[in-house]
Amino acid sequence: MDEFAEANRLNWDNRAEIHSTDTTGTYRIATVLDGGSSLHTLEAGEIGDIVGKDIVHLQCHIGLDTISLKHLGAKSVTGLDFSPKAIAAARDFAERAGTEARFVEASVYDAPEALGETYDMAFVTWGAINWLDEISRWARAVAAVLRPGGRLYLLEGHPAMNQMYPDRNPLTVELDWRTPPDRPLVWDDPQTYTGDARPLTQVRHYEWIHPLSDVVNALIGAGLTIDFLNEHDIVVWQAFSFLVEAGEDQFALPEGQPRVPLSFSIGATRRG
Ligand SMILES: C[S@@+](CC[C@H](N)C(=O)[O-])C[C@H]1O[C@@H](n2cnc3c(N)ncnc32)[C@H](O)[C@@H]1O
Repeated sequence: MDEFAEANRLNWDNRAEIHSTDTTGTYRIATVLDGGSSLHTLEAGEIGDIVGKDIVHLQCHIGLDTISLKHLGAKSVTGLDFSPKAIAAARDFAERAGTEARFVEASVYDAPEALGETYDMAFVTWGAINWLDEISRWARAVAAVLRPGGRLYLLEGHPAMNQMYPDRNPLTVELDWRTPPDRPLVWDDPQTYTGDARPLTQVRHYEWIHPLSDVVNALIGAGLTIDFLNEHDIVVWQAFSFLVEAGEDQFALPEGQPRVPLSFSIGATRRG
């Protein structure tokens, strides 16, 4: 693992400890332990038919969405993440929920070998590809874990939103639209994004902005056909402090501000 990935893994181990004992409500732990779902309205409405499907959740974090997919009717669910603390928390949640789920600790780049099987669907949402330096390598890993005809559902913060510096009002473009693999954005956040007051001890982390065209072309190049590409003027967390609530678990720019896309989703199918 290179120095950027290793720093990110330590940062995610730290966040996993805080998120798995979350009291802010961000992770909907009680709902999932009760047999419910932590999926937001947006992804729940876009994922399509998952009943009876074998699903892999890449970068599954503490596994709550993975377990939720099983509660929503998937035949089997497997979560993969490179953080051992996140995987340990995910296994613990599955046991407490009484839900069958497999969790694998590995880099997403190594997913095909680490998982050793293929799936009807890969589910990737909210804060996954921004941790990756090479989007084409990620797309090849996604294609390799899908069966022919298998689908990817990807939902992410929009790269245009990620170019805006946090909390400058009005929005100001301050970051390049494409981050070079060897020159990531460097952040030192003292706390995690849930609003939890507990400090992070591993603050340094690295991220990359991938233009939409790079993501789409990487998927096409890896052997997937794009079924849809949607852009949304909502996001599910308060990405900027001046966003306003816009429906259940959704935030949007306030009236009077020019609208920019805040998130995007892609449905894609592996060619046979
Ligand atoms: C924001 S979380 C994703 C949240 C997820 N949507 C969920 O269901 O909670 C990002 C996750 O990506 C994982 N991650 C980051 N880089 C990774 C990599 N190279 N390989 C595998 N997992 C990675 C982190 O450990 C973290 O759990």
